[in-house]
Amino acid sequence: LTQFEGKHFISIDQLSNDELRGLLDLSKKYRDTYGKGSSVNPVEAPKPLTGQSVSMIFQKRSTRTRVSTETGMNLLGGQSLFLGPSDIQLGVNESMRDTALVLSRFNSLVLARVFAHDDILELSKYATVPVINALSDLHHPLQTLADLMALEDHFGNLKGKTLAWVGDGNNVLHDLMLGGAKLGMNIRIATPAGYDANSGVLETTKQLAAENGTADVFETTVASEAVKGSDVVVTDTWVSMGQEDEYEQRVKEFDGYQVNSALMAQANDGAVFLHCLPRHPEEVSDEVFYSEQSLVFPEAENRMWTVMAVMAAQLGKL
Ligand code: CP
Ligand code: NVA
Repeated sequence: LTQFEGKHFISIDQLSNDELRGLLDLSKKYRDTYGKGSSVNPVEAPKPLTGQSVSMIFQKRSTRTRVSTETGMNLLGGQSLFLGPSDIQLGVNESMRDTALVLSRFNSLVLARVFAHDDILELSKYATVPVINALSDLHHPLQTLADLMALEDHFGNLKGKTLAWVGDGNNVLHDLMLGGAKLGMNIRIATPAGYDANSGVLETTKQLAAENGTADVFETTVASEAVKGSDVVVTDTWVSMGQEDEYEQRVKEFDGYQVNSALMAQANDGAVFLHCLPRHPEEVSDEVFYSEQSLVFPEAENRMWTVMAVMAAQLGKL
């Protein structure tokens, strides 16, 4: 994980397999040390990021990403600054380039949640400190670390396990399929016509699958075809932030894609359900969402352990 020091965290495919492994292991170590079940006295817990700080640019809403980063940074001894859309000059009065150059002089890290992925690329081009992508329209890599951690907690080694995605071919899917392929999982994707995954990200996933012994990257428009034989069923909102105007249209076009008990019954015995949250009943029934099969709340908790690991590794202070 020492090779990760100083690097940006933009999308999962940019991590080496060792870096991905190292980040997942460090996340578990942090849970053991700082978690509610830990025997370590919080006052005596190590504070490796004392004196460090992260600026957090949020152009969109957030519950998990904001709270996990602020709380996690505090546990590690550092400071976080929440910068919402009306808090800073960015976008109104100042460019991403100038914002990157200025924040880099104050802070050890810059985290950003943006609309256009190009804004993250622009930020990382000009920032002289490591950048964390906290969600763009194309990628959500922090979420994938939390998801893979939840799956490893449940299944152990994920090689040969099958992950089915049902719903929109969006940012959350993109990193999850990249990360799943890196760990040797089979990937089965059901999206309605016209809502498929980004073709470039799909191509990269197939390359990673070939390199890591993944048997199958399969695409379909039929939800049950993707879910059949899977160990993990994942969905997300049908209407991502920024797509609110398309709500009516999307709900119509995603008819038949709800993850419910009938669909889960097509999966393997012992299959589990994931959702990054926030969740709406149209994409997953209450029955599945609150079931024993659902790992959604441990998954949400993992957002904190994983972002802590990313920040500490970028700063080379584990
Ligand atoms: N899953 C996730 O990123 O949630 P928030 O939008 O609440 O940060
Ligand atoms: N795909 C969703 C994820 C929210 C965490 C969005 O981009 O709004």
